[in-house]
Order: sequence, then C-alpha cells, then structure tokens
Amino acid sequence: MKRNILITGGAGFIGSHVVRLFVNKYPDYHIVNLDKLTYAGNLANLKDIEDKPNYTFVKADIADLDEMRRVVREFKIDGIIHLAAESHVDRSIKDPFTFARTNVMGTLALLQAAKEYWETQPEKYGGKRFYHISTDEVYGALEMTHPTGIPAPFTTKASSGKNHEAYGEEFFVETTKYNPHSPYSASKASSDHFVRAYHDTYGMPTIVTNCSNNYGPYQFPEKLIPLFINNIRQRKPLPVYGKGENVRDWLFVEDHARAIDLIFHKGKISETYNIGGFNEWKNIDIIKVIIKTVDRLLGNPEGASLGLITYVTDRLGHDMRYAIDSRKLQRELGWEPSLQFEEGIERTVRWYLQNSEWMENITSGEYEKYYDEMYGK
Ligand code: NAD
Ligand code: TYD
Repeated sequence: MKRNILITGGAGFIGSHVVRLFVNKYPDYHIVNLDKLTYAGNLANLKDIEDKPNYTFVKADIADLDEMRRVVREFKIDGIIHLAAESHVDRSIKDPFTFARTNVMGTLALLQAAKEYWETQPEKYGGKRFYHISTDEVYGALEMTHPTGIPAPFTTKASSGKNHEAYGEEFFVETTKYNPHSPYSASKASSDHFVRAYHDTYGMPTIVTNCSNNYGPYQFPEKLIPLFINNIRQRKPLPVYGKGENVRDWLFVEDHARAIDLIFHKGKISETYNIGGFNEWKNIDIIKVIIKTVDRLLGNPEGASLGLITYVTDRLGHDMRYAIDSRKLQRELGWEPSLQFEEGIERTVRWYLQNSEWMENITSGEYEKYYDEMYGK
C-alpha cells in the first residue's frame, strides 16, 4: 500500500532509527522527515538512507503553523509519527520556555495542520493516523521502597541478563495519573493532553505511547550513557548527580523503533501504550557497567576509569525512580524487547568507540560552550 508518512524529529536520536526502519522496510511509503535541526538534530545520523528514492528531508520548525499546513498539504500526508521535541531535562531546567514552545505549541501546530488538511479529504479521518511519541516521565516519580532491590515481578529479554531487580512495588501503567515534575515532563504531559483533546473533540485518529529511557547509537552526548562513554574516552570526570541512586528503566532504541512500527500499523486509535523492558538500573550500577565495558574494549586494566566518577550537586527536582509496566503492549500486540541489556550496552559502547568522528563533530563548537557552562569545565 502506498502511504505518505511524516516523521518529525527524524534527525534526532530515536527519530533517526524510526526513519531508517521505515525507509528500508516500506519501499512503497514516502517518508518525509521534518526536522528543525537544532543542536540535537544531525543529518549525519541518516547518511546511509539519504539517497533512497522514498525519502525526503524538510528543514522546518513544528511550531510554525503555516509551514506545517504547507508540508502536510504538499506531501499529502496520511500518517504522522511525531517525535520532534526538546528532550533534555537539564536544559529544561535552564530554559523552560523553549520546551513550552516546541513541545506544546509545536505539537498543537502539527495537530491543527493535520486536522485542517484531513477534514478537507473525501474520506476525512479514514485511514489517517496521528501517532505522538511521549515519555514515562509524564507520570512523575515512583517511590524507592526497596533501595537494595527485590526480584521484579516480570522479566523480559531486556532484563534477562542480570539478577533482575525492581526497586519498588509500583510501576507506571497506562492509567497512572499524570504528575510531571520537570519543565520537560510538564511540556510533554501538556502535549499528550492536546493530542487526546484532538481525538476527543474532533475525532482525530490519535495514538500516544509513553516509553522509558532509551539508549543506543546516535544519542546526543548530553544524556547519561553517551556522555559517560565519551568522557571515559577523553579521560574527563564522570558527573554523577547526587548519590547516583536514582533508578531508570532502560530500553535499546531499536526495540523502541520496532514498537513504534508495530503500534503505528496495528495499535488501536485513541489508545495509550506504555513501552519498556522491566529493566531497572540504579545510575551508579549502570555507570559501573559502562566503565567496565569501555575499559575492556579500550584494552585498559579493569577498573582503570573508576576514579573518574565524580559526585556532583544533584539535579533540581531529580525524579527518584521510573519503571514501566509494558504488559498491555505485550498482551495486545505481541511486542517484546529483542535484546538483552548487556548485549545492548556492548553494541552501544562499540558503536561510540568506532564512530569517534561522529562524536567529535557534534561535541565541538556550540555544544562545547554549553557543556562548559553546564558543568563549569
Ligand atoms: P533528540 O533530542 O535526540 O531529538 C529531537 C529532534 O527533534 C532533533 O532532531 C531536533 O532537531 C528536533 N527538533 C527539536 N525542536 C524542533 C522543532 N521546533 N521543530 C522541528 N524539529 C525539532 O530526542 P530523542 O531522544 O530522539 O527523543 C525523541 C522523542 O522521543 C521526544 O519526543 C522525546 O520526548 C521522546 N522520548 C525520548 C526518550 C529518550 O530516552 N530519549 C524516551 C521516551 C520518549
Ligand atoms: P538522562 O540521560 O539525562 O535521562 P533522564 O533525565 O531523562 O532520565 O539521565 C539519566 C539519569 O542519569 C538521571 O537520573 C540523571 C542522571 N545523570 C547523571 O547522574 N549525570 C549526568 O551527567 C547526566 C546527564 C545524567
């Protein structure tokens, strides 16, 4: 079947994996990647597919309503996968307005442009889809009732490689009440509400998914895992916020992209699906895995980089624990993570070490200035 699909934020981390998957898997689809190319957007992430005949890149700002109207009309878009966003919590603490503009106003502009165009079509919303990619952070923070860990109630391929632990009894489910704390999560929560409002008010065929922390190739090195891999390589300090005890639930980015593909095609309109791997890690434990893997792959003696760990002032309002219950997605659509966490980390570290040029290109100039301001180095 021929389709014209708009993917926003396709030059970013997760978006580039989604664009690559769709361009390669669906030669009959025309994939339009729309991205503003902020500091986080990088067309080098898509070098391998940029010449494919079913791929078009458009540089545009999602908050520009007229431009969104034009793009949706010009490319006769019938499906939207919306990933474009400001995505880094630390930046949102410094500059919340940019987050409100892109994440809230940008999502609203895209919804409105799609609504106006689709309502002029003879089949209206028939066969259309507006799929909004969101985060587990909108649910707030879970209690850390078991700081030393208890056996988790469920195991997936992602979590099968270690002594599988949970740090509390509670998990985020699709009906968990929204309770965002950071300006980032507040802006994502607001955009989720607008998406659902367009379904409930106008009948727009929407879907929302909320995913846990992603890791893998092409992630901008301001996020924990690529930042630490790069800093170990450069013998720079590894800034651990607070005591390093906060817990995140980690998923390999290609497993997220596979879930997005499945949900875009088979998910039920107006539904929400949580995406995660029951794979909780304390920051300090994941940092030790990264150090061990980087040192081994670089041929350093074991533990050589442990001394780079530097405890720094905690992030303001730092959420303690995120943990996703993704059993609805498993039950209804049969999705499961395909990769064990240790394998995913090994692949990720190898990729960053083998692609040091990619890293060096984006860590020069503007980013360096930001990093110096952020960490005072
Ligand atoms: P990213 O920061 O790596 O990429 C974001 C992309 O959006 C960049 O290419 C950037 O240029 C583009 N963009 C930013 N503002 C724009 C604007 N105004 N107009 C057009 N394009 C713009 O982010 P990511 O980690 O790939 O996250 C993608 C989406 O997934 C986001 O919506 C995020 O909230 C969500 N998400 C991320 C994670 C995670 O762990 N990274 C987890 C769950 C959900
Ligand atoms: P991050 O990758 O920014 O993702 P998020 O805040 O969306 O979960 O951070 C992951 C965890 O690592 C989070 O608890 C904050 C912590 N962290 C550090 O301790 N040091 C760092 O330099 C960074 C970037 C994050």
